[in-house]
Amino acid sequence: MAILITNIKELVNIEESPKPLVAGKEMSNLKTLKNAWLLIEGDRIKDFGTGISDTRYAIHDARDQETDPRSHIPDLGSEHDLTILDASGRFVFPSFCDAHTHLVYAGSREVEYVDKIRGLSYEEIAKRGGGILNSAKLLHETSEEELVEQAMGRLNEIIAFGTGAVEIKSGYGLTVEDELKMLRVIRKLKEVSPLTIVSTFLGAHAVPAEYRGRQGEYVDIVIHEMIPRVASEELADYIDVFCDRGFFTVEETDRILNTGMKYGLRPKIHANELDYSGGIQVGVKYNALSVDHLEFTGDKEINCLRGSETMPVILPGAAFFLNMIAAPARKMIDAGLPVAFASDFNPGSSPSGNMQLILSMACITYRLLPEEAIFATTLNGAYAMGVSDELGSIARGKKANLFITKPISTYEFMPYAYGSNKVEQVILNGEVVL
Ligand code: NIG
Ligand code: FE
Repeated sequence: MAILITNIKELVNIEESPKPLVAGKEMSNLKTLKNAWLLIEGDRIKDFGTGISDTRYAIHDARDQETDPRSHIPDLGSEHDLTILDASGRFVFPSFCDAHTHLVYAGSREVEYVDKIRGLSYEEIAKRGGGILNSAKLLHETSEEELVEQAMGRLNEIIAFGTGAVEIKSGYGLTVEDELKMLRVIRKLKEVSPLTIVSTFLGAHAVPAEYRGRQGEYVDIVIHEMIPRVASEELADYIDVFCDRGFFTVEETDRILNTGMKYGLRPKIHANELDYSGGIQVGVKYNALSVDHLEFTGDKEINCLRGSETMPVILPGAAFFLNMIAAPARKMIDAGLPVAFASDFNPGSSPSGNMQLILSMACITYRLLPEEAIFATTLNGAYAMGVSDELGSIARGKKANLFITKPISTYEFMPYAYGSNKVEQVILNGEVVL
């Protein structure tokens, strides 16, 4: 099975020598190819180049090319089952890699949303037993089958918006059994969805009401009961802790990450959303793959991230929805750091997984250039979920997860025209899924 996409107006984010991530000034150096073709074989990107090839036999418009494109297009052989897609006037992008979501959840929480409009803060709602605890109650009452079905609806929605890889966290279970239940749902989604999915264990998302005043005991359950079960059943790729004011302390986070590390779970943590919590520092100490949110990030935190292998991940959906200050993404890039942007798709602080909107917010609110925002939502997102060797750019040998846009004028149009879906056709694992 092969697919040849021809007449591509511009092929965006190509890499000749793939890198795991891009940082600082490099983030504005986005490589594209105008008037391009792309060949997919099996589930992989086989090759790409310039020139227009209508079919494997007829290649024209080679006059302006420095080299004859025919020499680059592999001989497919007549027995090949070849599909040709004409992308005239359209752009081809690597799929978005959304490195932070909580998209397995039951129901919705628009009641709290109205409370927020009336003036209650996220922390006040949480203290009243709303927020994460509200979702935990709903999740407890919902069957695994029903959770899979609800999550599949969300996955299909984000596929249509151009996402090709997504991280999904547990954290609405908050008991041993319900955390395992959530992770089993994510495992099922990995089997049935064409998306690349990685899973993160987030037992330390909130303290259940019955442990109020005995938070240490709940942390002990996370450490001594949940982590060993999650690891022995191989249910998670990563471990997360909500390390912030009113949730888990640096000391508790340290203990949890230490145990996670012993069980082979690398951290990806929630940090510095509500305060200068020390979350970034403890994440870097444990070589976290990413530290996420980061509204409260100063020079000390930026210095700590410099030279680390930890990706700062910004979640504009949550900052927008909760009316919070913006994380200093511009300052991070100017300091030479890489930055990824993700959706945080969840029922409480970001009920949308639309990465095109995240791309726009990265430019509008955080002052990233379109080139930087494209890297932040593709290659750097892939790094922040541990899949950048396979995804996040158009490179030979990478997995063929990409989308073809509707007819558009420039790649800058993608973040510029916010709110509408510019994706027309989606290819995942080398197959047209939409
Ligand atoms: O990333 N900050 C912590 N957790 C989620 C919110 C989860 C919820 O409110 O349900 C977040 O914003
Ligand atoms: Fe989150």
